[in-house]
Amino acid sequence: MTTPHKVIAIDGPAGSGKSTVARALAARMGFDYLDTGALYRAAALKLVSAGVSDDSDDDRLASVLRGTTIEFKSGVIYLDNKDVSEEIRTPEAGHFSSVFSARKPVRDFLLEIQRNVGGTNGSGGIVAEGRDMATVVFPDAWRKFYVTADEPTRAQRRYAQLRKKISDVTLLTAQLDVASRDERDTKRAIAPLTKAPGAIEIDTTNLSMEETLEKMMREL
Ligand code: DC
Repeated sequence: MTTPHKVIAIDGPAGSGKSTVARALAARMGFDYLDTGALYRAAALKLVSAGVSDDSDDDRLASVLRGTTIEFKSGVIYLDNKDVSEEIRTPEAGHFSSVFSARKPVRDFLLEIQRNVGGTNGSGGIVAEGRDMATVVFPDAWRKFYVTADEPTRAQRRYAQLRKKISDVTLLTAQLDVASRDERDTKRAIAPLTKAPGAIEIDTTNLSMEETLEKMMREL
């Protein structure tokens, strides 16, 4: 597969800070930003609302997704032409996106959508962020980054993020969320989270967003 535009691929686990820095990097470069986690979250919303559960078979998942449209335009995520940008940010949507992202019909369905965004944006470049950007979706990416941080730091960041929306969330909930997502995202059979060969690793444990961004800029 060849991609006609410059792609900066960023992968990393939940809470690594990759979304924030990916958005900032896209703004700095004048590139489009693609949040692929948002696509997985939207697909999960659709599956859950159609009554699909994690023990439903692949045919059932595929048949629900067949009539579904998911689009990511200017930072807004549309599911069947409805803006679901808020709905996809609940802990439930996060949980089910991680569960359903292990399933082949979901990954196949979203692969095309992701590559089309990568090929049709008008800015000449794209910062694509997720779990398998550099390994599967854009293996020919211009630059590849693997962004990480230690688990307590990622749980703390997740906690701060959740608290903005849910006042009674606990640090323990965030710790469990990060740990269970790590387990599922790295151990699944298809496109598990892993550092791609040639990817530049950045550990953000002791870095601010600005420092991470500057590190990335020095690699371009
Ligand atoms: O980045 P996020 O937390 O919004 O992603 C939600 C889930 O979607 C994550 O737990 C795993 C899945 N995901 C994936 O499997 N592949 C991607 N490229 C992006 C996200």
